[in-house]
Amino acid sequence: MTAVPKSRILGTGHYTPARVVSNFDLEKVVDTSDAWIAERTGIRRRHYAADDEVTSDMAAAAGRQALEAAGLNVADLDMIIVGTISGDTPMPACAVHVQQKLGADGIPAFDISAACAGFVYGITIADQFIATGAATCVLIIGVELLSRLMNWQDRTTCVLFGDGAGAVVLGPAKGDGRGILSTRIFTDGSLAGALQIPGGGSNEPLTAEGLERKRNKVHMSGSEVFKVAIKNLTSASTLALKAAGLTSKELDWVVAHQANLRIITQVSDRLGFPLEKFILNIEEYGNTSSASIPIALDEGVRDGRIQPGQSVLLCALGAGISWGAAIVRM
Ligand code: UT7
Repeated sequence: MTAVPKSRILGTGHYTPARVVSNFDLEKVVDTSDAWIAERTGIRRRHYAADDEVTSDMAAAAGRQALEAAGLNVADLDMIIVGTISGDTPMPACAVHVQQKLGADGIPAFDISAACAGFVYGITIADQFIATGAATCVLIIGVELLSRLMNWQDRTTCVLFGDGAGAVVLGPAKGDGRGILSTRIFTDGSLAGALQIPGGGSNEPLTAEGLERKRNKVHMSGSEVFKVAIKNLTSASTLALKAAGLTSKELDWVVAHQANLRIITQVSDRLGFPLEKFILNIEEYGNTSSASIPIALDEGVRDGRIQPGQSVLLCALGAGISWGAAIVRM
């Protein structure tokens, strides 16, 4: 039996910065090639924030667009959740700056630190608040400004990531079957070292030597994450489908985290769901971590591929290792 949703998506939006950096541009600063990046990842370009742009600027722009799509005002919101690991400041939360920029004074605003899974974690939490009646209109934003967290001496990682923001507004379901049918989130802390920013916290306060060794930048064991990603994205998606009371045959679209086209292709094979029905934008934006799902979702909605009433699987995995999946009837 199909699950009965408690919350539904009222509007979507996204923002990507104007500065486009191609693989050919990176060839000039890193020992890499367009051929390697495109073949191994599917990425051809990524967008980088302007020097005077900060994370909350991108988040607020995406949030405003989602509110507009929902036909709502900032005053209608009663909560802001931001999935990010690259906020404006280590403290306070990025959501605080977003709240101030939107003029949403007084409502709770907080970050979720679940890296690339941050958006799926965010809608999972918002869905629970709405299901219990504790909130009626929640803005969930996935945003990252990762170009400032790259180690330009680490070619395996620095070519992968980009900047951007995506957002959805969630409100109560109307009883017509549309909404969040299921969510499933997971973490395996034994793999915390596979993808991390090792310096800058209580474990390794930053020193001049740490800065020299780029300990404040993203460090990733790519092949380790690669294998786990295929396995866990497939299992979480299968569990979310089961909880929603659907099979993959009944899905219309999949919006998977855009980390590597080879990962997405293998997940497509394992789920038995055709790659043509995945909303892909990795070629244009690279890996935008928590922003990748809401950006792709909004693109699919705006260009008319994703239609009202269609069923969409969202799935993501990133540092933690944290991962999750959700089924949404749009
Ligand atoms: O979003 C959070 C989750 N993250 C992910 O899901 C990322 C998962 N991992 C991956 O997508 C892939 O593991 C990477 C794209 C990061 C790396 O691809 P890979 O096929 O696993 O490459 P590798 O690290 O095993 O390196 C293969 C070769 C090496 O050369 P040798 O030792 O075989 O001679 C690397 O030095 O490719 C070389 N290489 C590069 N060559 C040109 C690594 N990076 C580059 C580069 N340009 N940028």
